[in-house]
Parts: sequence; structure tokens; C-alpha cells
Amino acid sequence: MHENDTKQFFEKYAADFDDLYGTQKSVINTIINTLFRRSMKLRYDKTFEECSPLENKTVIDIGCGPGYYALSFASNGASKVLGIDFSQNMIDLATKKAAEANVDHKCSFIVDDFNRREFDESFDYAVLMGIMDYIEEPSPFLEKVFSITTEKVVISFPQDGGILAWQRKMRYRNRCPLFMYTEAEIKDIVKAAGLPNPKLRYIGRDIFATVEREK
Ligand SMILES: C[S@@+](CC[C@H](N)C(=O)[O-])C[C@H]1O[C@@H](n2cnc3c(N)ncnc32)[C@H](O)[C@@H]1O
Repeated sequence: MHENDTKQFFEKYAADFDDLYGTQKSVINTIINTLFRRSMKLRYDKTFEECSPLENKTVIDIGCGPGYYALSFASNGASKVLGIDFSQNMIDLATKKAAEANVDHKCSFIVDDFNRREFDESFDYAVLMGIMDYIEEPSPFLEKVFSITTEKVVISFPQDGGILAWQRKMRYRNRCPLFMYTEAEIKDIVKAAGLPNPKLRYIGRDIFATVEREK
């Protein structure tokens, strides 16, 4: 399995993801969705705490999915937001929501694999929420992200270890490759990418990393 499986998985999963990561009604799914939602809320709050001030900032939302973050950035003062996702269905949702929220003049969305895309612009903030779970080679990926960021990168890494991580790996066996991380692995990945030391926080099921360009 490789990145095409991930892309196909998210094409099918887009509507459910938008509906907060699935709507199945079994007890186990209800528990998982509750934990998902809690983690999602924590990383959302942390992202906006870190990406401050927001007024007139430019943002790239990498693996933007249905545009939840991109729209919030645009509605809360960012001057320009670019969302990129390799799932057409996710980008269709994001584009529709940006128009409904009247922020389409500030948001643009592109369907592409971030690894393959060439950029001729840079952004004040780069946001990577829920994407490192699917990135096979995280160091070159982060190196590229940092090369187009002028201030700060915020990243959620799914935490490895424990029953929840094990359970999630089981669920993903037939979906797409899934990558999880320990604190030590994150430090090694960031170092190998040649980035400054990350600030790491444990939040819910994630380790939230902030990498800041030295002033
Ligand atoms: C779990 S979703 C997170 C969506 C959004 N960031 C959020 O937190 O609501 C992960 C997204 O990353 C996208 N993705 C994964 N690998 C990618 C890549 N190499 N390039 C672009 N998008 C990618 C998937 O299509 C999916 O929509």
C-alpha cells in the first residue's frame, strides 16, 4: 500500500470526515468519535493559540480536507489562505464551504499532492493538522514545508504507543498506510529535516509541534 491508497481512502471518506470523522452507530465507534472530536477540538484551539496574531497573515493549510481550518483562518483575519489536498472530494467540500461563508475571495484551494507541488510563494504560517499520519517520509516533507514558511509551522503528530494507537492501527490495516510517532521520533525527524528545535505539547491523542523560524 502507498500514497494512492491514502488518496483513495480520503476520496471515499470525505463526506464522513466532514461530518466529524464518521457516523457509524456502534458503541466502539461512538467512543472513538468522541475521542476524535475531543482531540480535534484540542488541536484546533492550540493551532489558533499558536498562529497569533492572525491579522493580515498568509496561511497554507496542507492536507486541508474539507477546509475547517482554512475557513476559520480566513474568517478570523488572515489576508490569504491556500488549502491543498490531494483528494478532489475534500477540495470540493472546502470550495463550497468557503463560498457559503463568504470567504472565497480570501481562500484558494488546489487539488495536488504536496510532495509534488512546486510553490513560487511563501506563507507566514503553515498548518499541518491530521496529515502526518499519512506521510511516509516525514523529514523531506517538513523540510519542504519550512522552505515556504516565513514565521511558524504547526503540526499534529498522532501519538504512538498505548491501546488507542494500537486500536487505530488495527482499523487502518485495510485502509491505507498509517504512521504514528513518539516524542523522540519527532525530534529526530525534525532534526533530520534541518529545522529548529520544535516546541512539543501532548494534547489528546496527538503531540502538537510548533516550529518557529528564528528571528
Ligand atoms: C485527516 S484529514 C485532515 C484534514 C484537515 N487538516 C483537518 O484537520 O480537518 C488528512 C487530509 O490530508 C490529505 N493528504 C494526505 N496526504 C497528502 C499529501 N501528500 N498531499 C496533499 N494532501 C494529503 C488527505 O487527503 C486528507 O484530506
